[in-house]
Amino acid sequence: MNGVEIHEDIEAVLLSSEQIQDKIATLGKHITEDYRDKDLLLVGILKGAFVFMADLARSIHLPIEFDFMAVSSYGSSTRSSGVVRILKDLDYEITGRHVLLVEDIIDSGLTVSYLLRYLEARRPESLEICSLFWKRGEQAVPLDVKYPGFDIPPVFVVGYGLDYSEKYRNLPYIGVLKPVAYGAEST
Ligand code: IMP
Ligand code: MG
Repeated sequence: MNGVEIHEDIEAVLLSSEQIQDKIATLGKHITEDYRDKDLLLVGILKGAFVFMADLARSIHLPIEFDFMAVSSYGSSTRSSGVVRILKDLDYEITGRHVLLVEDIIDSGLTVSYLLRYLEARRPESLEICSLFWKRGEQAVPLDVKYPGFDIPPVFVVGYGLDYSEKYRNLPYIGVLKPVAYGAEST
């Protein structure tokens, strides 16, 4: 990564800021084409998706609207608990609307599966998923992700909205943490 200082807790950069921005431009182009004559509502899943949502929205050249949900599926650990808690619900009705769920990352898929069932019950006109990162192969349940960004290996990553214990969300790239940053003894 030329000219970009890597955070001292990061062992390796998995995807650079440039790679991420290129991918978002492509996703935005597809979404712009697919929803050209439709009234699109982006639903971002907080907190992780806030960085991605901001960049994605600016690469979609349509008059979109925004809503957010906040869910919690992880404590401060790095493993999926499978328990999804809704901390903040939608502000708007989605009945009859074209909804695109914007997620940062799909790991087990439990969070997104739960949200799909939850939103589907409100009878949107359409409901699709856009997730920037996808640990394909880790899903406990099959998932149809219409707008996937990157397939990544099943490692815990941080940056670009993704956290470990609420830290590292503001890194412009995604990377793998050094074991010492998890509180492991350095040897
Ligand atoms: P899932 O329910 O196992 O698919 O997990 C989805 C959620 O877990 C994401 O929205 C993230 O908040 C979090 N998550 C999953 N993998 C990672 C990771 O590698 N780094 C940071 N957060 C992750
Ligand atoms: Mg998240």
